[in-house]
Amino acid sequence: MQDVEKIVARALGEFAAAQDPAALENAKARFLGKSGELTALLKSLAVLAPDARRSAGAAINSAKARLEQALEDRRAALADARMEARLAEEALDVTLPGRGRGRGGIHPIARTWARVEQIFRSIGFDVADGPEIETDWHNFTALNNPENHPARSMQDTFYVDLKDAKGLPLLLRTHTSPMQVRYARTHRPPIKVIAPGRTYRVDSDATHSPMFHQVEGLWIDEGVSFADLKGVFADFMRRFFESDDIEVRFRPSYFPFTEPSAEIDMKFDSGPLKGNWLEISGSGQVHPAVVRNFGLDPERYMGFAFGAGLERLTMLRYGIDDLRLFFDGDLRFLRQFA
Ligand code: FA5
Ligand code: MG
Repeated sequence: MQDVEKIVARALGEFAAAQDPAALENAKARFLGKSGELTALLKSLAVLAPDARRSAGAAINSAKARLEQALEDRRAALADARMEARLAEEALDVTLPGRGRGRGGIHPIARTWARVEQIFRSIGFDVADGPEIETDWHNFTALNNPENHPARSMQDTFYVDLKDAKGLPLLLRTHTSPMQVRYARTHRPPIKVIAPGRTYRVDSDATHSPMFHQVEGLWIDEGVSFADLKGVFADFMRRFFESDDIEVRFRPSYFPFTEPSAEIDMKFDSGPLKGNWLEISGSGQVHPAVVRNFGLDPERYMGFAFGAGLERLTMLRYGIDDLRLFFDGDLRFLRQFA
């Protein structure tokens, strides 16, 4: 079987010459593949006499075993060479000075959030936290928004594919006001609390994002008035903006859960929107129907509530004209606050 040894010699030569795994596998196919040379030889045995077939078969099988071994060795050698090359290429120079860890920074909204908590805590407000997925009752009905009342369309709502005990769909809270209800129903007056957190609406432009932050404020006791709201909020603003001459206005408005109601606007004193008014908060005297839903007697207890936007406060503080910058994750923007 001259042929066999010739084929083996050629195959070994080609395997050795293969410089990468793909070339090696191609060479393998030429000899050991389905229509490879050695395979063809094996098929041709069928025409031989039984004796000749036996010895030729043994020779071919031994050749095949040798080629497979050679193939294995060459594969291992190529893999080793590749690893060597990679190690050489990625060699680490341990004498180079380190790059150090990047220093993180607090996000401007988180900074505002912490500042708001600190200011209100200092004047005796508790800080509460609550669910972002709310029931229809807490988000709307308890706040004097009757089912199917058009006032509900003031807030374009994301509904969740889950139902509450009454069979109504759960929703992503559209404001932090449901926390008024949750907190007041589990505490006794005097009730003095803020509830900061994430809120969601189908909104999107330079001053509205689908996820944003509000801080709810609620003060309920005997005789807490709209004048107290103005005093507390103005004091908060002066401390938040570290300035006595900020321009704020209370603009008459409507919310089902307050009466009277006002939106609180503030004027930009720097940045691209300098001179423009921006609404930062809704507010008002809590409606007697809502005080009743707190489980309290509205003839005895009264007070105010507000819901301010943390993005809006941050925009005014730093003179930023587009709140989407807060959520883009662009380090050139974020580093300025670190
Ligand atoms: C409310 O959400 C009322 N719950 C506020 C309130 C609370 C009134 C308590 C009375 C008593 P309004 O929809 O106006 O109101 O939102 C309040 C503030 O949240 C706005 O002034 C604004 O600062 C902020 N805000 C509202 N929608 C967005 C939004 N899509 N993106 C960013 N900020 C928003
Ligand atoms: Mg508003």
